[in-house]
Parts: sequence; structure tokens; C-alpha cells
Amino acid sequence: MKGVILSGGHGTRLRPLTHTGPKQLIPIANKPVICYAIEDLRDAGITEIGIILGTNMPNKIKEALGDGSEFGVNLTYIMQGEPKGLAHAAKTAKDFVDGDSFVMYLGDNILKSGIEDFVSGFDESDYSSRLLLQEVEDPRQFGVAELNEDGKIINLVEKPEHPKSNLALVGIYLFKNNIFDAIDKIKPSWRNELEITDAIQKLIDEGFNVDSFVVDGWWKDTGKPEDVLDANKLILETIKTDIQGEIEDDVKIKGRVIIGKNTIVKSGSVIKGPAIIGENCEIKGYVGPYTSIGDNTKIIESEIDSSIIIGNSIIRSDKRITESLLGQNSQIISDKKTYPKGRSFVIGENSIIKL
Ligand code: TTP
Repeated sequence: MKGVILSGGHGTRLRPLTHTGPKQLIPIANKPVICYAIEDLRDAGITEIGIILGTNMPNKIKEALGDGSEFGVNLTYIMQGEPKGLAHAAKTAKDFVDGDSFVMYLGDNILKSGIEDFVSGFDESDYSSRLLLQEVEDPRQFGVAELNEDGKIINLVEKPEHPKSNLALVGIYLFKNNIFDAIDKIKPSWRNELEITDAIQKLIDEGFNVDSFVVDGWWKDTGKPEDVLDANKLILETIKTDIQGEIEDDVKIKGRVIIGKNTIVKSGSVIKGPAIIGENCEIKGYVGPYTSIGDNTKIIESEIDSSIIIGNSIIRSDKRITESLLGQNSQIISDKKTYPKGRSFVIGENSIIKL
């Protein structure tokens, strides 16, 4: 069995962060989100992995992941180019898959329980596909599966007005080779994309068996800023304390905290986990729960919680920073001496500031 991770797409909902790189490299607990997909595949015994690349700075993905040896896998890069849909992305992997079965994993999705149980027994089964599903409160914004009493999928509907179940499609799929014939038979949808749900529905209509597997634990699609912050919270819940940096006297550390090499936490600071602070940082102030601070960041006399600072940033703020997502090289400075009236900003396109 092989793995195919989709790392193309526009990432419009994550602008401005995606102006400078693909969304699959946005860090969750200081690790690019795509790394969690690679690790899930590896932990399920899948080491031949194809990475589908789009047009938004694909070289950054190659630079970050290399040949995969760091993860114990072998990565092959496959160019999709313009995002013409999930089924189109799958089709570009046909030569790489080369007749094997494969897991298709959306590169911005993250899953608590891994995929070992999901893939187990698929190769030997007479199923052509198996879909990972999760119960959701409002299925109307998802692809929704209708099952028979054996758990076999009998129908798939994209964003139904009147959903027949509350089981939504999670972005992780298992396929055998006949998915490529199904993709060849479908037409682009109203949004001009080749939809994977249409291809799977084609399999069902042609009498092939499609199995279901309901996720145990949480699943997150990190397509929007609030989802990225939620995923960060969920991953930080799972960390174990590891302090490598320097902690000065009179620092309070509560809960599980990771602090990287060459980071210094200054006297008088409070770090309340779960939180992660990268390498070469300087922290003076309060770092609260569910915060991830990337390398080379300075927190000066400031308070921050429930946020992600991607890295190389400076915070010197007289107001607490909360529920925030800061791209590389950001600065938030409040300086009463320099700015007696008003506030001063340098803001890129599509930025959001909540005052
Ligand atoms: P989406 O999040 O649905 O699409 P997007 O990345 O274009 O984002 P936005 O809607 O904010 O503009 O894509 C799901 C995943 O699949 C994501 O990891 C990107 C990837 N993808 C491809 O690799 N190729 C494609 O053609 C599409 C549509 C998505």
C-alpha cells in the first residue's frame, strides 16, 4: 500500500499566511501540519509516499520535507499544478501508485487516533474504497455518507440541504486501482473541479463496494485560522514536558511545557501549559495554555495565550494577546512613549486585527 498526501490547493481561507507559503507548512505545536500526515502513514507501515504539489511555492514543501528520510519514509514529489479538484489531484498520482492500493490523505488534515485501524484488512477485502467518517453536529457543510446496516456506503452527497446521516467525510480515503477508471468517467462539478465524492459515487453506482470507518477521537481540517488554533489546542493536549532551555530563578512553570534549546525564560515569568516554546527565544512575561511559540521569538513584558507565533517575531504589548495566529517575522509593539496617540500598523493583504 502507498500513501498520497495532497499539498496543493489555493489556501485562500488562510490568507495572508498563504501569501508566503503553502498552508500545509503552517505549524501546529511547532511542527508543519503535513508532518502529522506523514507520521500517521509511517506508523501504519506505509513508507512509499507521494506528495502532490500545487502552484503556491511548492519548493518550500520540498525544502521542508526533503527525501523523507528524517521521518523514515521515502517521498516522491508529484506536480499537480492548478488545483482542479481532489479527484484531479488523485489522478496525477496514478503512475506513482502503479497498481497498488493507496491512502489519500489531505495534507491540511490532522487526526488524533492515527490510521492504523483504518487501513487494517483493506487490501484483503473485496472493498474498492473505504472512507473515514466522523459524526458532526451540522453535516450540511460536509460531504455526507449514507450507510446500510452493514456499514457499506450506499450514497454520498456533497453539502446536502437535508442530510440523511450526521456522518461527514474526513479527508482521508482508501482506494484500489479502479478509482482511476471512475475518475476518468466523471465530469467537473459546478465549481469546475473533479470531485472525489463524484468518483466514489461512480464506484458505488457501478456496483463496487465502498466501506466506512468512523473516526475514534477528534479530527481537524485546518483550512481556516480558527481551525488551526483548535488543532493547536488538541495537539498541545498530548505533549509531554521537555525543558532544554534556561529557566532563570523566580519563574513559575505549571502544567506540561516544552522549551527548546538556547531559549531563556527570564526571572518573574509564568509559563502555564500545555504550551511549547521553540529554540533561541527570549521570554519575559506570561505564556498561557494552548500557546505555540516558534523559534527566534522574543516576548518582552507581555502576556499571550491560546495563540500560535510561527517564529522570528517580537511581542511587546501592554494588552494580552489571545486566540491569535502570527506569521513569520511579525511584530506587535505597544510603546506609549513613541506612539502617544493612535496605533501604528504595517499590515499585509487579508490581515485581520481585532482591537
Ligand atoms: P481545500 O482546503 O478544499 O482547498 P484549498 O487548499 O484550495 O483551500 P481554500 O478553499 O481555502 O482556497 O483542499 C483540501 C486539501 O487538498 C488541501 O490540503 C489542499 C489539497 N488540494 C490539492 O492538493 N489539489 C486540489 O486540486 C485541491 C482542490 C485541494
